[in-house]
Amino acid sequence: MADDIIAVKPEIAAKARVDAAKRDAMVAAEARDADAFWRSEMTRIAWMKEPTKIKAVDFTGDVSIKWFWDGELNASVSCLDRHLATRGDQVAIIWEGDDPNSDSKVTYRDLHARVCKLANAMRKLGVKKGDRVCIYLPMIVEAAVAMLACARVGAIHSIVFGGFSPDSLASRIQDSACSLLITADEGRRGGRKVPLKANADEALLACPSIRHVIVAKNTGGTVAMKDGRDHWWEALTAGEPDTCEPERMNAEDPLFILYTSGSTGKPKGVLHTTGGYMVWAAFTHDNVFDYRDGEIYWCTADVGWVTGHTYIVYGPLANGATTLMFEGVPSWPDNGRFWQVCAKHKVNIFYTAPTAIRALMRDGEAPVRKHDRSSIRILGSVGEPINPEAWLWYYRVVGDERCPIVDTWWQTETGGILISPLPGAVAQKPGSATLPLPGVKPAIVDGEGNILDGAAEGNLVILDSWPGQMRTIYGDHPRFAQTYFSTFPGKYFTGDGARRDADGYYWITGRVDDVINVAGHRMGTAEVESALVAHQSVAEAAVVGMPHDIKGQGIYAYVTLKAGVEPTEALRKELVAWVRKEIGPIATPDAIQWAPGLPKTRSGKIMRRILRKIAANETDGLGDTSTLADPGVVQELIENKVG
Ligand code: PRX
Repeated sequence: MADDIIAVKPEIAAKARVDAAKRDAMVAAEARDADAFWRSEMTRIAWMKEPTKIKAVDFTGDVSIKWFWDGELNASVSCLDRHLATRGDQVAIIWEGDDPNSDSKVTYRDLHARVCKLANAMRKLGVKKGDRVCIYLPMIVEAAVAMLACARVGAIHSIVFGGFSPDSLASRIQDSACSLLITADEGRRGGRKVPLKANADEALLACPSIRHVIVAKNTGGTVAMKDGRDHWWEALTAGEPDTCEPERMNAEDPLFILYTSGSTGKPKGVLHTTGGYMVWAAFTHDNVFDYRDGEIYWCTADVGWVTGHTYIVYGPLANGATTLMFEGVPSWPDNGRFWQVCAKHKVNIFYTAPTAIRALMRDGEAPVRKHDRSSIRILGSVGEPINPEAWLWYYRVVGDERCPIVDTWWQTETGGILISPLPGAVAQKPGSATLPLPGVKPAIVDGEGNILDGAAEGNLVILDSWPGQMRTIYGDHPRFAQTYFSTFPGKYFTGDGARRDADGYYWITGRVDDVINVAGHRMGTAEVESALVAHQSVAEAAVVGMPHDIKGQGIYAYVTLKAGVEPTEALRKELVAWVRKEIGPIATPDAIQWAPGLPKTRSGKIMRRILRKIAANETDGLGDTSTLADPGVVQELIENKVG
């Protein structure tokens, strides 16, 4: 089943702007003269000064990546100003609230005015080019306005997902020394309120760099406002003009920082710059989703993740699209919500995550069939491997076997999609992200870094740069070179494993490092471990991913308690709550196993390979345990496995 090929339907190929021949021509043009190819693609966005230099990249040594590097632009102009003459009255953002009775529409003209007002107010607060601004907002229109207002004044935004705890928010603000925080009174999700301002107040006790806080009124809930520091958005912006001179930015000036988990304890501030990122966002959004003027495009992600940055805000708005922002969750008020919203707004392109598909699949076909999905033309998937069963259900039930599915592989670091079918050009195989986009050069290498040809399985690397690639880790360039370019020198290492079949199709097998992917969200095992050991009863902890039917992976924690502490059910619950409080609900452990000892080598290194196998119930093939200091520990853990 998994190797089924679903050919591009002739009627889809006939209408697609990129069919197989056109795709071949793009790949050939890029191969023939990459500079010429990108010189032509860069005109997708608006430049104040057109670049003459296209690319200067070195993946060795200190690693340096530059694209369009003598060009000047402002990202907000590409997303707003240049649409005003042609589509000022077109809806830019359809906002659909958590409550099914609340929605609103914002035209390009309105959005431009709202962005300019906020940008003017930010300048008055002293925000300048290069300053860092933290955004901690729910999925409300203000989130897009705040991003674009930062871009307008040349400030670097750093969005922190609203589900993160005060501690997680504080550490991200501290790492990039943000001077302004933009938040809201409260968020709403699935009928519940999220106390964003209260969380922010707690975080800010440890954030002396923050001079001002702008608070959007969302639920109207009561919040504390600190005199001189906190300002209501509405009052602050009301008297501001609705035009604002955009800052001239070099193509390589930073646009945003987004923190993401890696193998070590501290999340990394992935830094994206302006020119290359914007070209990549526009290029991929247009080609992968075959976007047509006038269509309604819906990506269900949150702007707190990279998917929301590139495929709710920057890509769609650069292309003049109507983008839908959804505040709610797929299961509230009932599990037909996605399809109800598709019917209500006549959504043409729908982009979501496998975890949502698997959760909805469990509830059967009726909630889907109840709603009219005839407007949908293209379906997308992102964030984690999609199993063929879920893929086929999505194709058959949601798309009525009419709509191509684009399974898009990419990462926070890549800025946008790298491997994906183009819907009118590439035959799909359920579970495969298929082929690289034109200009993307993936390879599979073995443990020693040798490039494997033909059908092969190993580590996924990218051999050369693409415009949307991250440029550095904020404030720590050596860590950037070390993390991504030292495992296989001269190549960008993705951290993913992959298989390539005889047709050249890529099948992502999942992370090969100590990162786990929980419901499409990246979580570093080390982050959860350091949260656990911060608890007074915990002596040691080891965290691994375990297979999970809905979430793809769940969090499995082995915990060694301090001498004399009793392992009780109450303590287990307390530790789960502790991790939620330390990091946020997305890090909630699914299982905690009391471990009197952990399997270690004689040099004291925890053998995670063994812990992963125990958590996955794969204890038949534990492999070589002869290097263990105390082999008895393993038997103990197997016998007391949880779940
Ligand atoms: O393991 C891959 C998985 O998600 C990781 C990137 O996570 P993040 O930076 O949070 O970005 C998520 C949204 C782009 C990758 O290293 N991943 C993402 N998309 C896919 C995927 N795995 C398989 N198939 C995909 N389509």
